[in-house]
Amino acid sequence: MVLFNVSRVQTKPFDGQKPGTSGLRKKVKVFVQPHYLENFVQATFNALTAEKVRGATLVVSGDGRYYSKDAIQIITKMAAANGVRRIWVGQNGLLSTPAVSAVIRERTGVDGSKASGAFILTASHNPGGPNEDFGIKYNMENGGPAPEGITDKIYENTTTIKEYLTADLPDFDISTTGVTSFAGPEGQFDVEVFDCASDYVKLMKSIFDFEAIRKLLTSPNFTFCYDALHGVAGAYASRIFVEELGAQESSLINCTPKEDFGGGHPDPNLTYAKELVARMGLGKSDTQGEPPEFGAAADGDADRNMVLGKRFFVTPSDSVAIIAANAVDAIPYFSAGLKGVARSMPTSAALDVVAKHLNLKFFEVPTGWKFFGNLMDAGLCSVCGEESFGTGSDHIREKDGIWAVLAWLSILAYKNKDNLGGGKLVTVEEIVRQHWAKYGRHYYTRYDYENVDAGKAKELMAYLVKLQSSLPEVNEIVKSARSDVSKVVHGDEFEYKDPVDGSISKHQGIRYLFEDGSRLVFRLSGTGSEGATIRLYIEQYEKDPSKIGRESQDALGPLVEVALKLSKMQEYTGRSAPTVIT
Ligand code: G6P
Ligand code: ZN
Repeated sequence: MVLFNVSRVQTKPFDGQKPGTSGLRKKVKVFVQPHYLENFVQATFNALTAEKVRGATLVVSGDGRYYSKDAIQIITKMAAANGVRRIWVGQNGLLSTPAVSAVIRERTGVDGSKASGAFILTASHNPGGPNEDFGIKYNMENGGPAPEGITDKIYENTTTIKEYLTADLPDFDISTTGVTSFAGPEGQFDVEVFDCASDYVKLMKSIFDFEAIRKLLTSPNFTFCYDALHGVAGAYASRIFVEELGAQESSLINCTPKEDFGGGHPDPNLTYAKELVARMGLGKSDTQGEPPEFGAAADGDADRNMVLGKRFFVTPSDSVAIIAANAVDAIPYFSAGLKGVARSMPTSAALDVVAKHLNLKFFEVPTGWKFFGNLMDAGLCSVCGEESFGTGSDHIREKDGIWAVLAWLSILAYKNKDNLGGGKLVTVEEIVRQHWAKYGRHYYTRYDYENVDAGKAKELMAYLVKLQSSLPEVNEIVKSARSDVSKVVHGDEFEYKDPVDGSISKHQGIRYLFEDGSRLVFRLSGTGSEGATIRLYIEQYEKDPSKIGRESQDALGPLVEVALKLSKMQEYTGRSAPTVIT
């Protein structure tokens, strides 16, 4: 057994190590500064307390982006020095964010050990590479992101840090599975490298009817396409869709994980998932003949998903509502019923209508997956989702991109159980249209203004908060913009009291609620790494079945006009158009 020594390294605080919604995200250039990553990791160990860290088993892995391999070696040495007993690493340093959550909750190590937390190395959907982003976040024993109490403590520690601990371990091989043991001043330290997919695959098999999905995927009248955008989802896609479920190898695109995501932006939306969008017949110039029946994409760390039908986009807000409406029939894990459902505030109210219809507990939480985790730990929520392409359930404590695809395939398999083998299938588009016909349609769009001057963005938000104090003034502006839009009956800043721990989260977005149920929501993104991103969410409910078939940008045109005028968007940002529309 290799012996190691522990040393204390003197350091000084860095500014700005405050974790955002999903951990610390910065340019790689920032992370590679000497002591930068080390300070944050030691601040985390100190926040967890030495008592909890000593003897612990921790997972360290991520989406495989540039700098991950170096970071894994650095964190492992620091873990050994801080008295951690075991480090678990996915082979080649790869583990999707949902797989990390599953590993913490479900995996048993070769020696019977269980993990109590994880460092996840990812900047999610942000680009990777030497000039792009790196990120790190800590997840707790329940498999979910650290709560604010811990992240605040981590930040506080980063502002006063004077030293960190590290061990003179040799670098270990992350490409081969197996256990390597070392002996330190406090005893044995093990590094276990394990297959990144098997625990996750096992969990998925316990949730879904793989046999039913296999029948769908191998049916001659069903066609499928999955785009991992060169993120870590690729490592799971071939195992699950091809090996387990019989999809053709050629149905996977961009499924080799790359450190720079092939130079792309690994965010599954209509703007960035270009290749998939073209294949599905939704591109500007449609290429390869008849599109597949079903297409999906994931982000860099595979927690987000985009679901498409042939020439048809499913909004994430509709997706979670449709999954909830069909879960009991189509997914064995939910056969006993749903405990409740939840969505983030800016997500459309499509889920609300389903919850009401099915008489389910319903929660509206601020943006950020951690809010769902509390509800799930308390047994209050089974299915949840966000407009930001996140969908998931209480099987883990992160959103789950592949789970969402399996959920949709389960619904398709269920609706088509008598049509497989040939003949006409019920399509994704038909499932969505039937849903609208039954529950009404929530027209929905989001405008993003990226990399806006942070000061101007704050001014715009402050202006909107102030404007709310006078609804007559608001309605005058509304009317002058469009006389055909209904009137604003309520305005507020969303505030949330967690029903489980009673904690209060303020300033979670500005809402303008209209008489006819329409909503305008303005928020500043919590996940950007440069400047500020203003998000404008626009929603309109239509119950009349004769009016649910419009193009959403047309249907929402009047509300968009109102939103831009109300917020003085161009005046504050200097932008005449958003950076991205989803
Ligand atoms: C991450 C979080 C989500 C959140 C999303 C959008 O993916 O995990 O919970 O909805 O970011 O955040 P933003 O603040 O950029 O709108
Ligand atoms: Zn992500």
